[in-house]
Parts: sequence; C-alpha cells; structure tokens
Amino acid sequence: MQDQQSWVRKDLEYVLHPMHDHAHNTNGPLVLTKGRGSIVTDVAGKEYIDCSAGLWCVNVGHGREDLAEAGAQQMRSLAYASGYAGTSNLPAIQLAEKLASLAPGDLKATFFTTGGAESTETAIKIARFYWKATGKTEKIKIISRVKGYHGTTAAAMCATGMSQYWRNFEPLQSGFVHIPTHYCFRCTLKKKYPECGVACADLLEQAILAEDPDTVAAFIAEPIHGGGGVVVPPPEYFPRVRQICDKYNVLFIADEVITGFGRTGKWFGMQQWDVVPDILDFAKGVTSGYQPLGGVMVNERIHKVFRELPEGASFNHAYTYSLHPTCCAVGVKNLEIIEKEGLVERAAVVGARMQAGLKTLESLPGVGEVRGMGMIAGIDLAADKAGTPMPPAFGKKLIANAMADGLLLRSRGDVVWISPPLVITESEIDRMIDGVAKAIKGAA
Ligand SMILES: Cc1ncc(COP(=O)(O)O)c(C=O)c1O
Repeated sequence: MQDQQSWVRKDLEYVLHPMHDHAHNTNGPLVLTKGRGSIVTDVAGKEYIDCSAGLWCVNVGHGREDLAEAGAQQMRSLAYASGYAGTSNLPAIQLAEKLASLAPGDLKATFFTTGGAESTETAIKIARFYWKATGKTEKIKIISRVKGYHGTTAAAMCATGMSQYWRNFEPLQSGFVHIPTHYCFRCTLKKKYPECGVACADLLEQAILAEDPDTVAAFIAEPIHGGGGVVVPPPEYFPRVRQICDKYNVLFIADEVITGFGRTGKWFGMQQWDVVPDILDFAKGVTSGYQPLGGVMVNERIHKVFRELPEGASFNHAYTYSLHPTCCAVGVKNLEIIEKEGLVERAAVVGARMQAGLKTLESLPGVGEVRGMGMIAGIDLAADKAGTPMPPAFGKKLIANAMADGLLLRSRGDVVWISPPLVITESEIDRMIDGVAKAIKGAA
C-alpha cells in the first residue's frame, strides 16, 4: 500500500482535474478510498462527513451493496446495448416508466444521457427541434439567468449564467440571453420582498418582448440555484414564470439536476410550487451517483411531435451511452431504495432540522444569510446583513478548518454549499452544524 503522499504525487503527475485550483491546493487533492452512509474515508484512513453528498448526488448514501449488485447483475446479463433507432433494453424501459409515474403533470417520455450537461444540451436541442418541426423555425433563443448553472459543455456553458465558466473558452454561441434572477439577499432591482411583487419574474417577460417572442425557444432555470449559491425563489416566482412562458409560447425547461430525486423534500423541486415544466432535465440523484446517468423528460405535446415526425425526419441527436442498460438498472434500483426507505419524506423532516440548525449560524461574524430547503442549504458569506462580501481568504480558511475537523464541505469562496446524503443521521447533522460553526469562528 503506497502512502498518501505518493498517491497525491501520482495524481498531480497523471490526472487532469476539473475545477482544481493548483495555486490554492498546494497539498494536492484529497484522495478518497471508501464511503459508507454519509461518511467517506481518505487514503490515510481519516473519516469525514460528506456534507455535499459527493457533488449533490449521493442521495441514498455511500456503500450500498444493493446498488452494486443491481449493476453487477445487469453487467452479467447485458452490460451494454445501443439505444439508437431500433434497439432498446429492459432497464431503460423500466426506468422511463418509473420516471413518468414520479414526474409532475404530463411529463412522460425520457431521452437518456449520461450526465447533467448532456441533459442541458439535449433539452436545448429538443426545444429548438420542436419549434422547427412545428414550423416556427425562428424560435431558437434560450433565456437563462445570471447565477444559473447548467453544466460546462459548449451550449450548456452558454446557458450557465456565471462568467467564470465562459472565460478562456470564448467565443460563446449566439442565441443565449441572460436575465437577473431572484436573489433577495442582494436584489439586483434593489427591492424588498414581498413589497417588490416579485418583479424579478417580470424580467423574463421584458426579455421575451425585447428579443421578440417569435425568436425565443425556451427559458431554462433551476428550481433552486445550486452552484450559483443555493438561492431559493420566492413562492410566487415559478408560478409567474409558468404564466409568462404560456403567454408567449416559450417552452419552460426545469433543470432538476440537483433538485430531483428528493433533495428538496419532494421528488422534483418544481413540485414545491405545483409548477409543471414542458421539459425537465435530470442527472445526479437518479442513480445517486453510482453510475453516470441523466435524462430529459418531455410533455405530451412535445412527445407527440417527435412520435409523428414524417419519414426521414428523425431527431438526429444521440449518445453512444443513451439508454445505457447498466446505468438504467442502477437507476431503477436507486429509485426503489428512495421509495422503500421514504427518503423524499425524510429529506423534508430531517431537512427541517438541518435548516433550523444552520439558520442559527446567521449570528456569527462572516455569515450574511443562511438559506435552503429540505436537504440543500447555502451559507452566504458576508461582512454584514447588507451583503458586503467577505475576502475570499475567509471562505478558503473556513473550508480548510472544516476539513481538518473531519467535515468535507464545498465552497466557491462566497457561499458554502451544504447538501448531505438524504440518509444522514440526526446526530451527524448536529455534528456537522457544530463543526461548521467552529470552522466559521476559526476563519474570522
Ligand atoms: C443544475 C445543474 N445542471 C447541470 C449540471 C451539470 O451536470 P454535470 O456536471 O453532470 O454535467 C449541474 C452540475 O452540478 C447542475 O448543478
């Protein structure tokens, strides 16, 4: 067994990491070897509470034998089959049927991908294809929001509303428009909720009119901003968005990559406000991260157009691993576990305890606002309640303190993201909150 340092040296020599700040992480990456429930263990044997469920994805917790077995069984019978025209497989059909029973409204048919960004790309292409197939060939623009995160592949990056994900990758594709989002703590419109009347939702209407409704294909939004800082919308926001999209014949895409599969205390985030999108894209929690899988669900109106395409007019968008049987088999078992163990309901109940505990941290210096819903929370770091940003070193120190204390926390410097596995125990939640408080105090 090689020691920790030699693994880190090899990693730095041979592995190119996503979003790795080499100048800051001078010790190299943390090398993990094992996970059980909410606990992960590094190569030196040190244990941490996984406060992020990996990357907002390990909903059922680490180390599930039943998921490993579901994958192994499928690999033994049929590890791979193409999902291109003319071929399908049992786990993909079973998973699609199950998703249709869980998703809101008339979202029914699923196009499978292998992750979130592929799902965003697919959702955008479905929207444009739908309009072209129905004779509205000019409807191509995609409106998204500042702070929105939709992945980093070419089109997904353009929908993502944070410039750090475009910088050094220009040129951007044309046809993408960003509008400000709901962010009450630092409101762009300098208004106060509820007197504002959720004027931020009206920015969508203004953008559609400014662009010309006949050129706008879709509006894409996360139910709760994840990477953009766990920003929860006012309850009126998405119902209003739905009305605006209907009024101007713009498709509404809900990016449920983080919020799907129980994270907010409902199966899908949009169910918090009884809003049904036209297109819903998902990934992460569908397999709890045990296999790379994502997908895009469409409503009956869109599905009908796809099913009734004239001969020779197929949807020429595909991935070798669409409908991957092993990934789908793990997805089927994962949803069975979430259902059998009542993890969606648990996320609402245990999430309330987590939110209440984290909220107490608002009194600490360096914390501007704590917000969240169910098992997703963000600690907005600020010097005061007016939102004056803290120096980036504060967030970095906080994360390092937490790590030394056995908490794996994530932050971009201005917001600390918290999204533990839905199976985290009450005592682990209490320990996490105490540890975060200690880490904040130590960073001051
Ligand atoms: C809301 C949202 N959409 C899309 C993505 C991209 O997913 P992936 O990293 O699987 O490409 C993410 C990733 O965190 C996400 O949070």
